[in-house]
Amino acid sequence: MAKIIGAVTTSHVPAIGGAIAKGRQQDPYWKPFFDGFNPIRQWLGDNKPDVVVVIYNDHGLNFFLDKMPTFSVGAAPTYVNADEGWGIPSLPPFTGHQPLSWHLIESLVEEEFDLTTCQEMLVDHAFTLPMALLWPDQKWPVTVVPVCINTVQAPVPSAKRCWKLGEAIGRAVASWAGDEKVLVLGTGGLSHQLDGERAGFINKDFDLKFMDSLVGDDPQWATQFSGHELVEQTGTQGIELLMWLATRATLGEKVNDVFRNYHIPISNTASGLMLMTPKA
Ligand code: DHB
Ligand code: FE
Repeated sequence: MAKIIGAVTTSHVPAIGGAIAKGRQQDPYWKPFFDGFNPIRQWLGDNKPDVVVVIYNDHGLNFFLDKMPTFSVGAAPTYVNADEGWGIPSLPPFTGHQPLSWHLIESLVEEEFDLTTCQEMLVDHAFTLPMALLWPDQKWPVTVVPVCINTVQAPVPSAKRCWKLGEAIGRAVASWAGDEKVLVLGTGGLSHQLDGERAGFINKDFDLKFMDSLVGDDPQWATQFSGHELVEQTGTQGIELLMWLATRATLGEKVNDVFRNYHIPISNTASGLMLMTPKA
């Protein structure tokens, strides 16, 4: 039986790709951010996951505004990155775990999630850069299953629905006959707003409360808020925290709070990082 051995949640800012390309990890601006990943890499080296389910949001590379699925799952043999216009180098392709992808798709559809299935799929900075933060040599030692949640075009799914999606992903992995060790990687958030009157908006109090909630007695705390309320609290792009909720939900009721980092700002974003493991 496959097993989720842990979950990492992190922000995903395109400028990270520029910092990596220019070797700026130890610059004073970047150091508090990049150093946050050292304990995570240590844990990955000790625990060696076989496959990563990456829960992220596409920003217009694979889906554009003309076709915007609420939830989509990749079932491709390979996932390729491409130029998104940020001026950062494209990263090497990722090998898909197709049998697990199809098992996930079948399980989720059986559980009444109406998915878009992608047998070809480009992956953007929200997928590639967190992977490069976990494995800086970019020689991916894992296969991947992309799960994409729309947070770029209204209407976005509710926090409650994303929590349920995460629970269903957890059940799907648990019912997979293989013996893979699975890492769930959720990317997005925390508070940030890139456009409009509140551009640059960050809400540290809310972010820290949210991170606390995920490892506390009420991990569903943020599901009390509507999409509009989440945008009010965290900014238009802060709604990407939905990925953190879905990721946390894959782990079951209780988790170990293994590691956290929070640093303001990276580009326009309050950058958060957590490693949680399931409590037996
Ligand atoms: C930034 C953050 C994002 O989540 C994103 O997708 C693009 C840019 C930023 O802070 O620059
Ligand atoms: Fe984003």
